[in-house]
Amino acid sequence: MDPRTVGPLLALGERVLTDSSHLFDDHDHRREAEDLLASVLDTEADDLDDQEEVSRRLRERYLSLVARRAGGEPFPLLVGHIVFNGLELKVKPGTFMPRPSSELTVGRAAKRLRGRKHPVLVDLATGTGPIAIAVADEVPHAEVWGADIDDAMLALGRRNARTLGITNVRLRRSDLYAGLPHRLMGSVDVVTGHIPYVPPDEVDDLPSEVREFEPLTSLTDYSEDGLGLMRRAVAEAPEWLKPGGWLLLEISHDLESKIRRLCTKAGLEDHGVGRDADDLSLVVEARKPRA
Ligand SMILES: C[S@@+](CC[C@H](N)C(=O)[O-])C[C@H]1O[C@@H](n2cnc3c(N)ncnc32)[C@H](O)[C@@H]1O
Repeated sequence: MDPRTVGPLLALGERVLTDSSHLFDDHDHRREAEDLLASVLDTEADDLDDQEEVSRRLRERYLSLVARRAGGEPFPLLVGHIVFNGLELKVKPGTFMPRPSSELTVGRAAKRLRGRKHPVLVDLATGTGPIAIAVADEVPHAEVWGADIDDAMLALGRRNARTLGITNVRLRRSDLYAGLPHRLMGSVDVVTGHIPYVPPDEVDDLPSEVREFEPLTSLTDYSEDGLGLMRRAVAEAPEWLKPGGWLLLEISHDLESKIRRLCTKAGLEDHGVGRDADDLSLVVEARKPRA
């Protein structure tokens, strides 16, 4: 018999999502099933009651969302938004979905900016600007810039910032640093970046939720090892940072020693990596020497 109550519907959703080969394994499939059912029932996941009967119309809507998710559609697209660092950000097809892992960069950057007078942050490869917007929200006296080459993503980011009433962030079309105002040279307190780093020959191995739903230019720069943009971002950082300013780069675990070496080669002090509690994300932290 088809499940009609919340408990069995959640169990079914979790099983279908866990069996999908289109999704990363590290998602919390149970939580996603709960969030999908909660969005259909217009309630909070924590308020779901296993015994509650769900109408046929809502069961069908839930199961169709589960099927779309199992087919690889990013979770935020199914509900139309993502909550990032406590902010509700709208998402759209064809844009890079902000990752919860990037909240680590926000926290590390905000910590470095808070004590400074008129602090300036530049977020490279900002996409729809989640890192830039969240830092601007956390540190209202900061001047925050986001740089990206994708106009559609920038437009969505500007709309999100406007809706949230965050006015100290500007998102600019810019090939890394090239389109930023020259007056920022040598005066940036923190540069952040969640820059593409996947080698082109590994793109086909990514699950469909990424490969088929996000622009390939968000994932790889098509250089031989996928680190062409990363190299430029690190090499040019000292020109933009003020003495004592920080470069914070979100990377995957396998890149740690390579990126730390690049930073040292660029004349930055290596301050190791920041990690979150789940050890999902890694932020390389390097500093321009003070004198
Ligand atoms: C991994 S996504 C990160 C987006 C955003 N920081 C986030 O966390 O949601 C990488 C971004 O790099 C951008 N990008 C690719 N080449 C670039 C370039 N030459 N200059 C600036 N941004 C670039 C892509 O458009 C994409 O938005």
